[in-house]
Amino acid sequence: MTNTILVLNGPNLNLLGLREPEIYGSDTLDDIAGRLEDQASAAGFAIDMRQTNHEGMLVDWLHEANAEGARAVLLNAGAYTHTSIALLDAIRAITVPVVEVHLSDPKTREEFRHTSYVGMGAVKTVEGHGAKSYEIALQHVIDGDI
Ligand code: DQA
Repeated sequence: MTNTILVLNGPNLNLLGLREPEIYGSDTLDDIAGRLEDQASAAGFAIDMRQTNHEGMLVDWLHEANAEGARAVLLNAGAYTHTSIALLDAIRAITVPVVEVHLSDPKTREEFRHTSYVGMGAVKTVEGHGAKSYEIALQHVIDGDI
């Protein structure tokens, strides 16, 4: 196993900072990546932060995380969270632990966000803490809770 933690971000998260800031806050994905890198490197881990708007790319990256022996995956699949059986199957197909991450708390939002296929396969879910959700999820990996 390597010390690399993949942080995979799905659709529309490239617009973080501009996109509905009243829901998602004003940090960009690069701001979040910078903080995660500092947090990880202080604990002897490395972050590999990625974003795609394409569902199949997330599937491929989950397979890659497994093949390369990543320590864990933090996955904010955006709206694919609520629709993608392919992501659930990919999470179940690999042995790398996947932590589900959301800035908002989808369970308190529209009903169509209440189902999480990602959550059905994830070892843990961290949601509703804004950008800090990523840092909390990373800390669980660093602390060996996952
Ligand atoms: C999100 C929540 C999802 O419901 C939404 O589709 C997103 C962002 C979040 O981080 O709060 O794109 O994953």
